[in-house]
Amino acid sequence: MTTLQADLNQQGRTVLVTGAGSGIGLAIATAFVGAGDTVYFCDIDAERVHSASEALGATAHGEVVDVSDYDQLKALVERAVRETGRLNVMVNNAGVADGKASIEKTGLDLWRRVISINLDGCFFGCKLASEIMIGQGSGRIINMASISSFRGAVNGVAYTASKHGIVGLTERLASDLGPSGITVNAVGPGAIETGVSVNSEALLGDSYPTGSASTTSDEKLREIVPLGRRAKPQEVASVVLFLASEAASYVSGATVPIDGGWLTR
Ligand SMILES: NC(=O)c1ccc[n+]([C@@H]2O[C@H](COP(=O)([O-])OP(=O)(O)OC[C@H]3O[C@@H](n4cnc5c(N)ncnc54)[C@H](O)[C@@H]3O)[C@@H](O)[C@H]2O)c1
Repeated sequence: MTTLQADLNQQGRTVLVTGAGSGIGLAIATAFVGAGDTVYFCDIDAERVHSASEALGATAHGEVVDVSDYDQLKALVERAVRETGRLNVMVNNAGVADGKASIEKTGLDLWRRVISINLDGCFFGCKLASEIMIGQGSGRIINMASISSFRGAVNGVAYTASKHGIVGLTERLASDLGPSGITVNAVGPGAIETGVSVNSEALLGDSYPTGSASTTSDEKLREIVPLGRRAKPQEVASVVLFLASEAASYVSGATVPIDGGWLTR
């Protein structure tokens, strides 16, 4: 048995999920709690941390953290390791949408906020987790990419650049960290039933483009997605759980589309 296998076969992994106050992140945290793991999670929104903590129960520990602040995220990673002695799985999920802003509508503030949350935040999580996991000789890192990691015109300039960046980061880290027994993968959701547009507009305030048609209509989705519908957040969480499991022991450097077949069109 490899060190990685031995580690993941332990009962109760330590898992950290960012942006788990709502949507996909909350579904991921719920799935890991259901699998018997100890979950540390964060969100920038205090109310969401509170409601998620109530929903997740005693084996989940939430804190208000802005992932674009390295020191804040570092403190949460350190807490997880201090309290459990390990970090088995890191899920870099926190992200904001950009209202599908074109280059004309992408102001410098919008660009910087989206890149700092979606890409810096992911990099910070990878860097912090890898430092612990290299020492352990094992670990799983799973990053939240998007259909916009593969397609240029589904979302706006900043979001598309950030999600393409996550694929490059994931591939390079899979190469760097494989020799230390760590797998690094990403998932690329298509259209998922969450409040990401409304939440992002509230978080980004004035930098968010006004009058943006930020969600794809149901009619349009039926046309472009072979399965003809949005997915539930749980349908993303189940793939993340797979990538963290022993069943995915030889998967690394992949960005797995979860898009109802959208990329075939
Ligand atoms: N919903 C979709 O259709 C879809 C598709 C592809 C990818 N994604 C990605 O999935 C991830 C989760 O999005 P979602 O759809 O669940 O939206 P969501 O708005 O429900 O969840 C995102 C969470 O991240 C939090 N957050 C935002 N900025 C943060 C920061 N700086 N620090 C910590 N937390 C922060 C938000 O408060 C929110 O609770 C994002 O990375 C998003 O880009 C979503």
